[in-house]
Amino acid sequence: MLNERMAEALNTQLNKEIYSAYLYLSMSACSSFIGMKGFANWFMVQYQEEMVHAIKIYNYVDSQGGQVKLMAVEQPPTEFESALEMFEKTLEHEKFITKSINDLVNLAIEEKDHATNIFLQWFVTEQIEEEGNDNDIISKLKLVGDKGNGLFMIDRELASRVFTPPAQPEEGQG
Ligand SMILES: [Fe+2]
Ligand SMILES: [Fe+2]
Repeated sequence: MLNERMAEALNTQLNKEIYSAYLYLSMSACSSFIGMKGFANWFMVQYQEEMVHAIKIYNYVDSQGGQVKLMAVEQPPTEFESALEMFEKTLEHEKFITKSINDLVNLAIEEKDHATNIFLQWFVTEQIEEEGNDNDIISKLKLVGDKGNGLFMIDRELASRVFTPPAQPEEGQG
C-alpha cells in the first residue's frame, strides 16, 4: 500500500516520463523535417521507451492502491541547432531524470517503503543505460563534427534501432 506522499512523488515522476516522451517525439519530428530519418527513428524509439516508463509507473501506483493523477505536460522545444545539440539536450534531460529517480529512492527509504524501493531499482539500472547511450552518440557526433559523410553514417546507424516492447505480463498482474 502506497502512502500519500509516495503516491504523489510517483505521479510527479509519471509526468516527467511523459514529458520525456514528448521531448523525444519533438526531436524525432525535427530530425525528420530536416531529412535525418535515422535520427528521427532513434528518437521515435526513445519516445516509445519513455511511454513504457510512464506506464510502468502508472501500473505500479494503480496496483498498489494509489490514485494515478495526470498533470499538464509542458511544451517541449521545437527548434534545435544540430544533431549534437539534440543529444546534448537529451543527456542533460536524462541526468535530471536520474537525479529525480535517486530522490524517489531516498524517499522510499525514508518512508520505509521497501516495495517501492525495489520497484525503483529497475529505473536506476535503466538510467545507467540511457546516459551511456547518449554519451556514446555524443562522442561519435563530436568525432565527425559537421562533416556530411560522417553524419550520414551515424544517421544510417541510428536508423537500425528497433523498439523492443516490454515482456508480458507487466507489473500489476495477479
Ligand atoms: Fe525515462
Ligand atoms: Fe532505455
